[in-house]
Amino acid sequence: MSDLKSVLGEAVEAAFAAIGAPPELGRVTPSDRPDLADFQSNGALAAAKRLGKNPREIATAVAAQLAGDPRLASVEIAGPGFINLKLGDAALSDRSNVIAADPRAGAETVAHARKVIVDYGGPNVAKPMHVGHLRASIIGESIKRLYRFRGDEVIGDAHFGDWGYQMGLLIGAVMDENPEIRAFVEVLNELPEPLGDTEFFLADDPRATVFDTVSLADLDRLYPEAAAKGKSDTDYRDRARKITAALQTKQPGYYALWQRFRDVTRVALERDFHALGVDFDWWKGESDVEHLITPMVAELDAKGLLVDDQGARIIRVAKEGDKRELPPLLVVSSEGSAMYGTTDLATILDRKQAFGPDLVIYCVDQRQADHFEIVFRAAYQAGYAAEGQLEHIGFGTMNGTDGKPFKTREGGVLKLNDMIEMTRTKARERLHEAGLGEDLTPGEFEDIAGKVAVAALKFADLQNFRGTSYVFDLDRFTSFEGKTGPYLLYQAVRVKSLLRRASDEGAQAGPVTVSEPAERDLVLTLDAFDAALTEAYDKKAPNALAEHAYRLSQAFSKFYAACPIMQSEPATKASRLTLAATTLRQLELALDLLGISTPERM
Ligand code: ARG
Repeated sequence: MSDLKSVLGEAVEAAFAAIGAPPELGRVTPSDRPDLADFQSNGALAAAKRLGKNPREIATAVAAQLAGDPRLASVEIAGPGFINLKLGDAALSDRSNVIAADPRAGAETVAHARKVIVDYGGPNVAKPMHVGHLRASIIGESIKRLYRFRGDEVIGDAHFGDWGYQMGLLIGAVMDENPEIRAFVEVLNELPEPLGDTEFFLADDPRATVFDTVSLADLDRLYPEAAAKGKSDTDYRDRARKITAALQTKQPGYYALWQRFRDVTRVALERDFHALGVDFDWWKGESDVEHLITPMVAELDAKGLLVDDQGARIIRVAKEGDKRELPPLLVVSSEGSAMYGTTDLATILDRKQAFGPDLVIYCVDQRQADHFEIVFRAAYQAGYAAEGQLEHIGFGTMNGTDGKPFKTREGGVLKLNDMIEMTRTKARERLHEAGLGEDLTPGEFEDIAGKVAVAALKFADLQNFRGTSYVFDLDRFTSFEGKTGPYLLYQAVRVKSLLRRASDEGAQAGPVTVSEPAERDLVLTLDAFDAALTEAYDKKAPNALAEHAYRLSQAFSKFYAACPIMQSEPATKASRLTLAATTLRQLELALDLLGISTPERM
């Protein structure tokens, strides 16, 4: 690590060692009193206890060791024995020149790159996406980008939900509504051949065009009714279960109709996700591991892991010492269907064969914590992954003002697409209010409104630690003031326009020489980027990065207010232009890692 905090930390550790104190106590932290110091070390207190000495005495001895360090402007002792460190302007200038020359703006890479899969988003065929999926998409996208930026080899997978009971429900509902579809499905179901030949047969058969009439709107309309009926009507539910089981054997009629459902849904989902700046590397579905299930079940059986349970087959995962009893993994239902956990287990096997990940991060609603614990234990028992390679990172919910998971005014779940549209509308209003974007073409304005909307939604989410729930407040999220995505975009655009003006005037950037307090503070903030990234990476917590982006914007604002740029004499102007350009690069990088893209102008 070459950031100032690490470099200084090493120097202070060496000073502790030199006076016979444990070096690890020399750890430094950013100062609590930025007016007095840049960094501080509180280790003298603990060292004094260990060595049976007076803390101020220890601090004085450490300070004496550091006295000659050319990077330090002062070392002072405060209170009972805190060591306050202030860097010299030269050390800060050197560091900013290094960051300025670095395309990664001071960010390091990991020493040992790993292969990582981020399983996130988790959309389904037919079942509408709810706010849980919004958070899964926003947080997962950021974690994917962050891990990749740190140097890991990363794949983001949507793990499309396309193989469960909801498919049986929907096939039944579509057939009930449309006799022509029913008739053709029944014809196809009589075919002896399972899959490939069905497609061949379909290509030739004019009746197959009836499937093309099924639209996403039909699925959206039929699914909620079917789901409700499946709950109240046991015959209806049993039929849906039977269809699901038959679909999973690829019975041609069901399979062909299902393909239509899957395809229309996928196109719409990809479009919505893309509008949100969420793009998956893999769109593998639960159905993609279908071919692995029969051999997997046989293998689990051979390993003695399967237990019969009232016609179903399960794996027991409860362990001694568990605080509460975990239910078993349901591998095969009594109808013979693969369940949600079955496809998850087979997917672990599939990913192992296809990519061999060192780590799989499942970014899914906290409410599925038990599901993952059960699947992971089964996978470890079966030897499909090594203990610790599978990690569920849960998150809280996005709530309405009533404190419950956010719903539409009608009480339904809010669809992702509607959520984005609603935010865009608000973003347009906000831009008009602020008098922004008035000189742009309508196309450019729309592009910016889209970016403001995405920044608003994502930053509002990512500024909280993922475990915390938060309240959906569109007014606040879209404001250009305060700790919001739009504020950060506005700051970035301001720097862009400053740099454009400078270049129009032929002003050149040059080496940084730091002197003003606001410059010092800006450089210290730029220097803290790597620490923020490390924290976000280690804790899988993008909020550390969101916080850094916000601090950087604030430090820049203060610098911009206190330190004139264009009116300064040439060397100062050149230095400050470099600081501005470096801030912009780091800010855009940080925003990009949050999944937020910055417009050129506003
Ligand atoms: N489709 C699931 C749902 O809507 C989420 C999938 C999460 N990922 C996984 N591997 N199970 O609840």
